[in-house]
Amino acid sequence: MRIISKPILAGGALAAATTGLVWRQLRGQGQVEEPSDPGNLFLRRYGPWALVTGAARAEGLGYSFARHLAGRGLNLVLVDIAGEELAARAEELQAKYLVKVRPVALDLGREDFLGALLAQTAGITVGMLICNHMWTPKDTPTVMEMDLATHMAMLNINARAYTALIHAYGRQMVERAQGGIVIVASGAGLQTTPYTGPYSANKAYQRALGEALWYELQGSGVDVLVTAPGLMATQGDGLAGYPQWMVADPDPVAVETLDALGHAGPVLIPGLINKAFVATQTRLLPRRMAVESVGRFMANGLLRQHPART
Ligand SMILES: NC(=O)c1ccc[n+]([C@@H]2O[C@H](COP(=O)([O-])OP(=O)(O)OC[C@H]3O[C@@H](n4cnc5c(N)ncnc54)[C@H](OP(=O)(O)O)[C@@H]3O)[C@@H](O)[C@H]2O)c1
Repeated sequence: MRIISKPILAGGALAAATTGLVWRQLRGQGQVEEPSDPGNLFLRRYGPWALVTGAARAEGLGYSFARHLAGRGLNLVLVDIAGEELAARAEELQAKYLVKVRPVALDLGREDFLGALLAQTAGITVGMLICNHMWTPKDTPTVMEMDLATHMAMLNINARAYTALIHAYGRQMVERAQGGIVIVASGAGLQTTPYTGPYSANKAYQRALGEALWYELQGSGVDVLVTAPGLMATQGDGLAGYPQWMVADPDPVAVETLDALGHAGPVLIPGLINKAFVATQTRLLPRRMAVESVGRFMANGLLRQHPART
């Protein structure tokens, strides 16, 4: 991995770091406006309402999506388990973008969540679904360390809920022959990731479902895109152990994803560093070497002991 990937990663790192720096400086100086939508094309195609899951945390990717959708004039249904934070985000968005925002505090791991959510969205047209929420234990136990109830809870939140949301709102879109579905998977869903194996498996599920949907819904009027970000600065100091040049801002990830919907697919890998990393792992390296190199990368990042080699 080292011989093949270092030059690629270094090139990608330089380009992405430069882009990120320019972006941050412009935003800091207030020179970058929220993305405009000349002619309201995006709004007409994917409006009038977007439903975004996992949008409560100010530093999270879900809130980035919500901001950029509001900037394009879409009303928002925001869903998250963190009710108080969600209400604060909804107030911020309404004040800044003058769109309608409905915060729905809901545990998407609940068996009966879909009925509750459909009741909250009855009478409005959800033209855009962004499945973005996820849950994984903070202490990232191994597959065997994690208790079975936690495995099942992760499947409910990260796999079952994705299927239920896509099935319900996707069918409404297919009936109207219009809409967009974004599935936020991860590089970990493209490349098996030891030490966060259950998360990686959940993300692979999302990726496979989304890729199939992308193919099946071509010509239906409903655009589908799986986005597979790499590391993002959304986890406080949770990523402190990883090389910081690999950690992206969520904003450019959200913008690249929204701009690619309807134009790219089935999978978008946002950001140059992420593209280089995923290409190395999934196309250049033999599978065994790829799993081993990502395992070492994760063990270093999480400060875990490497397993003894067989
Ligand atoms: N950050 C990265 O490095 C990275 C890399 C690749 C892909 N991604 C993906 O990007 C997406 C956004 O991640 P993020 O980093 O922005 O994470 P995040 O801020 O933790 O966003 C996830 C949100 O989902 C909420 N949530 C958790 N369990 C829920 C449940 N049962 N019902 C409803 N909401 C629930 C979380 O609430 P709590 O905070 O209360 O749990 C949180 O607000 C995720 O799909 C993630 O897998 C992230």
